[in-house]
Amino acid sequence: MLTKDISMTTLGDFAGKNILVTGAASGIGRATALRFAAEGANLTIADRNVAGLEETAAMMARQPVIQPYDAMDIDSCRRLVDVAAVNGLDVLCNISGVLMWGPSEEFSIDDFEKVMRINTTSVFALCQAALPHLVKSGGNIVNTASAAALQGIAYTIAYSASKHAVAAITKGLAIEFGAKGVRVNAICPGQVNTPMTELTAPPEGDVNWDLVMRNAPKLKDGSCDPDDIANMFLFLAGERARKVTGSLMVVDGGQLAG
Ligand SMILES: NC(=O)c1ccc[n+]([C@@H]2O[C@H](COP(=O)([O-])OP(=O)(O)OC[C@H]3O[C@@H](n4cnc5c(N)ncnc54)[C@H](O)[C@@H]3O)[C@@H](O)[C@H]2O)c1
Repeated sequence: MLTKDISMTTLGDFAGKNILVTGAASGIGRATALRFAAEGANLTIADRNVAGLEETAAMMARQPVIQPYDAMDIDSCRRLVDVAAVNGLDVLCNISGVLMWGPSEEFSIDDFEKVMRINTTSVFALCQAALPHLVKSGGNIVNTASAAALQGIAYTIAYSASKHAVAAITKGLAIEFGAKGVRVNAICPGQVNTPMTELTAPPEGDVNWDLVMRNAPKLKDGSCDPDDIANMFLFLAGERARKVTGSLMVVDGGQLAG
């Protein structure tokens, strides 16, 4: 028998919850922030792109807290959590990220370290700063990994390594904080129609496109829209996922099916 009736709750039911969404200036982060806002959450939206954050805020009926930060700068990650958690914190959605790709023989170590810092180290720093608040609230974290967290992708080694590491952070923290009542999950999107994929120049030089295209979606119109991923953020952050932790939820139009 259910100890708590959740059958009548909406998918999210986030009214009054304090939620921090990074990457909210664009793409998946914007779509996710808008959905939480529509559900009545008290939002803090964060990104390095201030103009984009203001555009996102203008799409909301109730104004969020806008907090610019730079994922390269760990102090700014910590300041961001301080601001977002001033009245407590219920959910952290780590969505900021960068994609850089190119033939591995030419890929610079500086770029490798930049991708790791933005996609991985800052995610750990934000989780670390948020966890004391989430222990108090019985809250949760939803990270953004990728289909690239679960398979090798040619010419995309730094990105793929950074997202494999996000998967590891997610699972490890789920084990460490499960008994303290904090859930930690990650979403693994496949190809999503956002500025990241529309504006990132394809790899140049000695590139075998057959190796790139082997990861194509299987569904007809299989590439996702940002809202397809936002749906999963709301599910994982909400009460219906109360028994879900340490999970890597794939939303990829069948890219990983085989
Ligand atoms: N689009 C895809 O196909 C796809 C697939 C799998 C995973 N993802 C992941 O989804 C997340 C969102 O990506 P998106 O597709 O919405 O791309 P996007 O480019 O639209 O959004 C990424 C956001 O991250 C922000 N950002 C980048 N560097 C930052 C920094 N140093 N400090 C603060 N903010 C920074 C950008 O300003 C941008 O608003 C990323 O983590 C990405 O790796 C995307």
